[in-house]
Amino acid sequence: MPAPFDPVAYRYDADFTDTPLGRRQRELVYRYLEPLIRPGMRVLELNCGTGEDALWMATRGANVTATDISIGMLDVASEKAHSAGATITFQQLRLQDLSSLELPPGHPGFDLIFSNFDGLNCLPDLSFFPDAVARLLRPGGGAMVVLMNPICLMELVGFALRGRFKMAVQRLRRGGVAAHIGDGEAVRTWFHPVWKVKRAFGKRFRFRTIAAIGLTTPPTLMRNWYHRHQRLFRWLFPAEERLMGVFPFNRLGDHTLLHCLLKDDPQG
Ligand SMILES: C[S@@+](CC[C@H](N)C(=O)[O-])C[C@H]1O[C@@H](n2cnc3c(N)ncnc32)[C@H](O)[C@@H]1O
Repeated sequence: MPAPFDPVAYRYDADFTDTPLGRRQRELVYRYLEPLIRPGMRVLELNCGTGEDALWMATRGANVTATDISIGMLDVASEKAHSAGATITFQQLRLQDLSSLELPPGHPGFDLIFSNFDGLNCLPDLSFFPDAVARLLRPGGGAMVVLMNPICLMELVGFALRGRFKMAVQRLRRGGVAAHIGDGEAVRTWFHPVWKVKRAFGKRFRFRTIAAIGLTTPPTLMRNWYHRHQRLFRWLFPAEERLMGVFPFNRLGDHTLLHCLLKDDPQG
């Protein structure tokens, strides 16, 4: 059965990755990811999409296994890696099947498991996820996840100012939202509150970072607005970068980035 992102895989980079808004959002994630990446480290990437981050980590020397449910996305990603001369292992994997993924014999476990930009929002329930991640990590390994936030300041203010109150609070709807991803395709999206994600991870992990990705940079829904007023948004960059990791601003972004480490780290 085709995955929801299969039909839009060919245009995902043009619609998001290669736009000023997409570049800005990714740059904000890299502020936190970059210090973790070391040559030779083992990274398992979940919902890798068109492989932009897999390639970015591989060019910094990481040994990346990149996975996604969508064969269309994986095709674009492996073509991209091939053109760049990068070695990345691609594998089809549903997040729901993570608990049954086996490490090859002799594999010491991953140093980092990474999920960027909302793959986790495609699942209604994340309670299985921390245990599934923990069993694939080496002792002291970490996880970084970036998922859409139920309370996005820019979306609330932006839509409320235009009198579109239903849109302003759409992320709070129970049962999720049908998010449009282009070409008439929609994907059911659940907005998990940060406290719930923290509680789920808290048994196995301790948190290092919680940061807003897109505190003053708006969501994709508002990209035309962002692209028309880029000078204004650039003027807000320093404030955004100063506040994105500070409570309560770190709970108000378009996305939330959470970085945590396995609790039974022998190095403490
Ligand atoms: C918004 S894209 C993000 C892609 C990429 N991580 C990025 O940063 O551009 C969401 C990705 O999640 C993948 N995805 C959605 N549901 C999934 C699932 N159940 N299992 C694995 N991947 C899934 C989609 O195929 C898509 O590639």
